[in-house]
Amino acid sequence: MKITDTIHYVGVNDHKLDLFEGQYEVENGMAYNSYVILDEKIAVMDSVEGGFGEEWLGNIKAVIGDRTPDYLIVQHAEPDHSSSIKAFLECWPEAEVVSSAQAFNMIKQLFDVNPVNRKLVKDGDTLSLGEHELTFVGAPMVHWPEVIMTYDAKDRVLFSADAFGKFGALDVEEDDWACEARRYYFGIVGRFGVQVQTVLKKLAKFDVQTICPLHGPVLNENLGYYLDLYNTWSSYGVESEGVAICYTSVYGNTEKAVRLLEEELLKQGCPKVAVSDLARCDMAEAVEDAFRYGKLVLATTTYDGDIFPYMKEFINKLTQHNYQNRTIGLIENGTWGPLAAKIMKGMFEKSKNITFTETTVTIRSALNDASTAQLEALAKELL
Ligand code: FEO
Repeated sequence: MKITDTIHYVGVNDHKLDLFEGQYEVENGMAYNSYVILDEKIAVMDSVEGGFGEEWLGNIKAVIGDRTPDYLIVQHAEPDHSSSIKAFLECWPEAEVVSSAQAFNMIKQLFDVNPVNRKLVKDGDTLSLGEHELTFVGAPMVHWPEVIMTYDAKDRVLFSADAFGKFGALDVEEDDWACEARRYYFGIVGRFGVQVQTVLKKLAKFDVQTICPLHGPVLNENLGYYLDLYNTWSSYGVESEGVAICYTSVYGNTEKAVRLLEEELLKQGCPKVAVSDLARCDMAEAVEDAFRYGKLVLATTTYDGDIFPYMKEFINKLTQHNYQNRTIGLIENGTWGPLAAKIMKGMFEKSKNITFTETTVTIRSALNDASTAQLEALAKELL
């Protein structure tokens, strides 16, 4: 696949993987992207996951023929992009590895790879391949500290490392880029909004016409859409109007309350209500919904003097990912001593700019007139 006349796609699709990074479901597989820039000198942009090393080397050879790559540019040392470096250097030992100092340390630790021919680069450094003039952009914590991105001034291409990536292999068609890109972003990079904002500001000085990420499709149309979404996500802004409701239910009574609230919200004109049963859903989907909408309702039971485990895990995920700038409504259920609302509230103590609704719904085992009236009041307040 040609990206431009001189930039070729040489990545691979992984359909064997069940959980990306040990936790994210990837029903549609995963792509590990890599690119070749053909010029007086040849640069290969990143390697791929180790199980696909042979296929990747074959893809490179199909593009470069008898030539030898001059550079392997390692933008990110995480194993999904670096575990084939060894195979690359066995094939082309004279190639120079170009990367940040931290990345060299990481690939030594991870794979005992210690390239003899190496070029250390940092933010602002450049590398000429002939016609292609590459500028490196430091992008710490997007997604690891060693990350660099690369801008090619000739073809106005940004190689964006993990940024602008998504779950899903490239041989599976998906209409909605944002759905899996959002789940990927909030799961993997979401905590580092400040760092993403810093990089977006650095990138603003480049005339980017094409984005080549390390996962997901190459983006070359309507780039403002993707950049705007990244700006919203990384600034913890509200992407869509609506309410996310995330719940756990032991006997079905909390779920009944959630469904009643959903009905009430829709009846009162809420444009979207996204409901997740935390015991059964892919929790990463619930996390992305919590960040997508400006309002979140959490409903759970008091359990062993604490809250139900799935809810605890969920709130921990939110706070770990720097959840902020949101309104939260609480529904608690308890048969003899409801504590859940207080505990849930306490878990957001260190989160920035969280507003709790005045109405908290307290259910004593099952809905009654009083708790139903509270639900109606909560719906009204949320809207
Ligand atoms: Fe795609 Fe952070 O690795």
